[in-house]
Amino acid sequence: MKTTFCLAVCVASAAAFVPATKPSFGTKLAAKQNFLEAEPYFDQSTVPVNVYKNKAPFTGKVVSSKRIVGPKATGETCHIIIDHNGDFPFWEGQSWGVIPPGTREKDGKPHSVRLYSIASTRYGDDMTGKTGSLCVRRATYWCPDLKADDPAKKGICSNFLCDTKPGDEVNMTGPAGKVMLLPEEEPDTDYIMVATGTGIAPYRGFVRRLFTEETPAGEAYKGQAWLFLGVANSDALLYDDEWQTVLKEYPENFRLDYALSREQENKNGGKMYIQDKVEEYADEIFAKLDSGAHIYFCGLKGMMPGIQDMLKSVCEEKKVDYDEWLKGLKSKKQWHVEVY
Ligand SMILES: Cc1cc2nc3c(=O)[nH]c(=O)nc-3n(C[C@H](O)[C@H](O)[C@H](O)COP(=O)(O)OP(=O)(O)OC[C@H]3O[C@@H](n4cnc5c(N)ncnc54)[C@H](O)[C@@H]3O)c2cc1C
Ligand SMILES: *[C@@H]1O[C@H](CO)[C@@H](O)[C@H](O)[C@H]1NC(C)=O
Repeated sequence: MKTTFCLAVCVASAAAFVPATKPSFGTKLAAKQNFLEAEPYFDQSTVPVNVYKNKAPFTGKVVSSKRIVGPKATGETCHIIIDHNGDFPFWEGQSWGVIPPGTREKDGKPHSVRLYSIASTRYGDDMTGKTGSLCVRRATYWCPDLKADDPAKKGICSNFLCDTKPGDEVNMTGPAGKVMLLPEEEPDTDYIMVATGTGIAPYRGFVRRLFTEETPAGEAYKGQAWLFLGVANSDALLYDDEWQTVLKEYPENFRLDYALSREQENKNGGKMYIQDKVEEYADEIFAKLDSGAHIYFCGLKGMMPGIQDMLKSVCEEKKVDYDEWLKGLKSKKQWHVEVY
């Protein structure tokens, strides 16, 4: 039997069924979250793609926009919840496009769309199926001459999103992308999720779907989901409280490893980057992939060369042909990359 967190809205609906006790964390939800499932739930033939386009975007409304990193984090990352009134369905692992308001300086044309991985499940953080969340890092430009951020060069869309207030409108496109979808046919599939920074966004949707919500996919899940997150320091960790809660409840099915580049050292005494942390478990990860696990990479583009060099060197040690190995994973659709 699965138990699950009770978010405010669920508490209200569960209370009708359990009047004598006040539901708290760990209380099983009375109502199932299954009203946004395909039939069967793992059938991906109806995944929506690009329903709203540039020319006719959807206008969502901001529910909240909050900074979610500590004071010593490098940069600012925000969690933004957007109300779509149930009119903008998506699946975990997809992205929304956001068209920032205003026009471009260079030619007066509207700004181009920016993509953001959706950080909630299809049910949203409140389980209503009417909201979705984004995890956005403010893009800034460090000016080497000023030795400070140059305010004239700050990222248009990320700053717009992080500065939104409840009720603000957001023009959106999508949902976009299918490479990061979660294959759910086999409930004992292992997932290895590797993120740097905001690359955590799709995995928040995955973990909530597999462990927090009471969906058919979550009820069936018997595999292991292993999350690797790389950030600069512990203040920059994202959604740590949520991971800790899932870890406590599902110590067999959920694993968590952090690479804190400015706080930890790798085995050679250098900074602990994401590839160094993954390498520590290379034998287990290779064995899992051999048995059909899916591996995901999401975050900044710059993470992939380090990851690939590491995997190459592990293959050499194991006398495995790297190119063949990778080709095999790709052809069996076990290899998922979304970097930006
Ligand atoms: C599939 C996908 C998923 C993504 N998911 C996420 C996500 O979950 N979270 C997230 O935060 N991002 C995500 N991104 C990145 C996001 O789409 C944007 O690229 C990012 O937010 C920056 O956009 P911006 O409008 O803020 O910056 P822009 O205005 O487009 O500027 C880009 C960069 O250039 C710098 N810059 C601006 N002017 C100058 C200048 N004159 N000289 C030098 N540099 C300058 C800015 O500081 C900024 O760093 C994703 C991208 C893709 C493709
Ligand atoms: C959304 O798009 C409409 C139509 O182009 C425009 O009038 C409006 O200002 C945009 N709103 C935002 C918040 O970008």
